[in-house]
Amino acid sequence: MIQMKNVMKQYDNGVIAIKDLSLTVDPGEFLYVIGPSGAGKSTVIKMLYHELKPTHGTIQVGNYDLAKMAPKEVPYFRRGIGIVFQDFKLLPRLTVYENVAYAMQVVEAKEADIKPRVLHVLKLVGLEQKKFGGSLMSCPAANSSGSPLPGPS
Ligand SMILES: Nc1ncnc2c1ncn2[C@@H]1O[C@H](COP(=O)(O)OP(=O)(O)O)[C@@H](O)[C@H]1O
Ligand SMILES: [Mg+2]
Repeated sequence: MIQMKNVMKQYDNGVIAIKDLSLTVDPGEFLYVIGPSGAGKSTVIKMLYHELKPTHGTIQVGNYDLAKMAPKEVPYFRRGIGIVFQDFKLLPRLTVYENVAYAMQVVEAKEADIKPRVLHVLKLVGLEQKKFGGSLMSCPAANSSGSPLPGPS
């Protein structure tokens, strides 16, 4: 469960990226954050994985109250979160499947749990046909520039 209450984020240069955001995401709920460039989407996501701290307000992700989290807890907190970035934060020598599986392998999940989970999430975003293809960068659906490169499907 994710809960943000009256969250405000002002950057050091004075820009207020988020004014007063409250939301709840229940377990199993699927939420899209959409809006024009500069709307504050990245700011919200970065606050959720504790890359940025809100100027005001509270954020709860699962059992963690992010304002009360000690720095040493951050890596443990992040191990419970999967983030697929749209840009260069991918491993170019791995296939699409391997890139997605990698985070679970790092936290030593069981191979029997990894495979169904990876196939499930690839299917959710329409990439299951590309799983043995090269890096995710070659998949237009995963790439903000949308440049399609040839790859096995
Ligand atoms: N590090 C930063 N320092 C100052 N202002 C920033 C910073 N990052 C983002 N902003 C500003 O905060 C606002 C929201 O940005 P952002 O969260 O990146 O929006 P989006 O992801 O929706 O395009 C924009 O006005 C942007 O210029
Ligand atoms: Mg952004």
